[in-house]
Amino acid sequence: MSTSSRPTTVTSTPTAETIRSDRPHQTSDTASAAETARVAATVLAPAIGAGLISRRPAVLQFLERFDVDRKAIRTLRALRREHSGRPVRLRLPGRSVTVLLDHTDVGHLLAGAPTPFSPATLEKRAALSRFQPHGVLISERGEREQRRALNESALEPGHALHHLAGHWVRPIDSHAAELPHTIDWTSFSDVWWRIVREVALGGDTAADREITDLLGELRQSANWAYLLPAPRRRRQRFLDLVRQQVGLNRPNSLASALGAAASAGSADSAEADPADAADQVPHWLFAFDAAAIATFRALALVVTDPDVHDRARREAADAESGAPHQLPLLRACVLESLRLWPTTPMLLREARAGTEWGRDGAAFLTFTPLFHRDSARLPYADRFEPDIWLDGRAEQQPALVPFSGGPAACPGRDVVLFTTATLLAAILRRRTRR
Ligand code: HEM
Repeated sequence: MSTSSRPTTVTSTPTAETIRSDRPHQTSDTASAAETARVAATVLAPAIGAGLISRRPAVLQFLERFDVDRKAIRTLRALRREHSGRPVRLRLPGRSVTVLLDHTDVGHLLAGAPTPFSPATLEKRAALSRFQPHGVLISERGEREQRRALNESALEPGHALHHLAGHWVRPIDSHAAELPHTIDWTSFSDVWWRIVREVALGGDTAADREITDLLGELRQSANWAYLLPAPRRRRQRFLDLVRQQVGLNRPNSLASALGAAASAGSADSAEADPADAADQVPHWLFAFDAAAIATFRALALVVTDPDVHDRARREAADAESGAPHQLPLLRACVLESLRLWPTTPMLLREARAGTEWGRDGAAFLTFTPLFHRDSARLPYADRFEPDIWLDGRAEQQPALVPFSGGPAACPGRDVVLFTTATLLAAILRRRTRR
């Protein structure tokens, strides 16, 4: 995702373009060849070029210079006007892809997971199987159900404070102390991965880079999912290392929570397989990367907004006790960073049955920046406004979905918001003391 569209203080007023459907559309349209070409050139090509699985910084910089995000949004808004908000099927060779343009339709699509709208699309299976062949996101039917339950038991979505959160505060604080006075991306991401290894795998893995370095290489190869074969040896080494580390079951790590969930699952069901449990962790490590990007952007947003900075510093200071805290404002800042620059800009689903919008096997694309920065609907579209996540305004919008939505929404959301907000608080406290 390019970071081209900077937040501004301009307030937009809802216009006639606002399409307020309370019910999902019952029919879909087909794009003209010219419309398809415009979507392909301004939405699909830049997203693929920027790297769907691992971002390519040089391409991102290029896209930013040409304000490509804004052009993509403009294209889709024109399509929305032309087709009165109905889903529009693109005329692409060999693949039926329908773009969603209406907020209510997005809510309907996400609520319909995994049937009729499966998250395990052809594209995701091709790319993600390179480093997480048994991940829940690319699983179907009984396997999906079982793996989703395992993820939920270990990650505890819906709980702002994971039952192990108290054990993660000190490591986060002490790794934050390793940051130099001037924080740049290199120093930040190094510290971030130390924290991630410690939270996910346990104590003495903080300095062990092999797992996360291998993951980085596999992710880069996943950008070429259709064109190049998977690097088999490195993939095997990575999966073996993860299984070995998870098998150590280090106390107070997410891996230990997974181990406990897997044991409970095996007691309840003959189908649960402990080896399968460890194979959920590659996705976790992969997804923590997005959290690093979101946190770094959130930090920049906070320190450049005097009012939010002041409130955030007070929240951080009040939380100084070594105990876990909810830090609602800092969580909201991370959510807001993800609204403005979603790290998953394309949410894909694939129909597992014929629906009102297309045939079995059809793909559906939600380009989240269209909805997250919809000035026709959101007065704060391009502004940093963390309070929308605190006062109920964000909840009223079915298409503000940085962590996706519905039954396949991100189960790691609360772990992410806890670790990121706790790290931000630690950084702000240190800077305030100087
Ligand atoms: C800022 C960080 C993160 C963001 C923005 C994020 C966002 C998302 C989104 C948008 C999806 C849906 C993807 C799709 O439908 O294609 C998803 C799925 C998922 N996320 Fe996250 N995620 C983050 C971090 C994490 C972390 C750290 C974990 C685990 C520790 C995690 C675990 C998962 C899992 C297991 C799924 C698959 C859920 C399913 O298919 O049922 N995520 N996440």
